[in-house]
Amino acid sequence: MDKGNSTLKAEILPTHTAALFAAAVKRSAELLRAGELVALPTETVYGLAANAFDARAVARIFTAKGRPAHNPIIVHVADLEMARRCVTEWPAAAGDLARAFWPGPLTLVLPRSKEIPDIVTAGGSTVGVRWPSHPFIQAVIRECGFPLAAPSANPSNRISPTNAEHVRQGLGDKIALIIDGGQSQVGIESTVLDLTVSPPRVLRPGMIHEESLQAALPECGVWNSEGGIGAGEHGPLRSPGNLPRHYSPRAKLEMLAWRDERELGTQVARSKFQPAKTHIIAHTVIPSAGAWGRVSVIPHDAEAFARAIYAELHRGDELGAELIVVEALPEANEWQAIRDRLKRAAAV
Ligand code: TXA
Ligand code: MG
Repeated sequence: MDKGNSTLKAEILPTHTAALFAAAVKRSAELLRAGELVALPTETVYGLAANAFDARAVARIFTAKGRPAHNPIIVHVADLEMARRCVTEWPAAAGDLARAFWPGPLTLVLPRSKEIPDIVTAGGSTVGVRWPSHPFIQAVIRECGFPLAAPSANPSNRISPTNAEHVRQGLGDKIALIIDGGQSQVGIESTVLDLTVSPPRVLRPGMIHEESLQAALPECGVWNSEGGIGAGEHGPLRSPGNLPRHYSPRAKLEMLAWRDERELGTQVARSKFQPAKTHIIAHTVIPSAGAWGRVSVIPHDAEAFARAIYAELHRGDELGAELIVVEALPEANEWQAIRDRLKRAAAV
């Protein structure tokens, strides 16, 4: 931990009873209406929210996160009518996907309406819209009556927060209010799907994977979004979350496979890191705790793994790990988004 509590000024409000939940909604809406930022839970990761119609409020998000101005922000809504207000076109595919996956971890990129200020879309002609399923953010959006622009509530390029304490560690000295809504259920960021191109294109994989999207859009046939994604030369980045290095812990991260502990030891010995400064995240061949700084076990199940992985990476940083080794992941589809995040976290 690199910050003393004295510098972390954010107030943290709990939500675990109906009365606390209602009070936290009220306080959040007050601040948001006044153009302030609030960090709040969603089912994917915690978001740093501002009134999406208020350019000055959204500018504060960029400052707090140290986010580059060319990276557009997702707009969160709490019903279809609000979603349609943010865009100029609502194609049949959007309706089909909303019916299948909203509220939930899917962001649809569509032509943006005039109500959405330039700063939200990084000057681009499209906007990413998502109807999250977490009851807290839904209640706040309804109370406010306007949509919320919200990126993940972490300093730019760091791991997304999956609980309120992660937010406090990363941004506690930059924002006034953090809402504690417990552990994020999904654990990694939403799938981002561009509906302005044909066939649609996944800009960022997520736990709703491409095959599920295709099944909901039979008229689009089968498509494949692999490859060619990245920064455009002009205008906003197509999806900056897809830059090679992103979502990184401070520690170096490596993905390794091992048949037994000896083989793991041999591989780590080739690196310059001491076993005591090395954290192992395993799901199948579990090493004994002895020599390693820490051994964490996440169930060999993609949903459970997604829910837990960011918290494990945050933990490694908090405990001063220099190397985090994650056991290589299965090839199956449902692991694709997790593989994507860890590959980027491991890129140097
Ligand atoms: O699950 C999530 O999506 C979380 C929660 C808080 O909703 N939000 C999130 O936001 O991950 P952020 O800003 O950390 O990542 C948003 C990603 C970025 O890669 C951004 O470039 C992309 O979505 N994005 C946003 N608007 C876009 C647009 N109009 N066109 C293309 N990509 C867009
Ligand atoms: Mg982010």
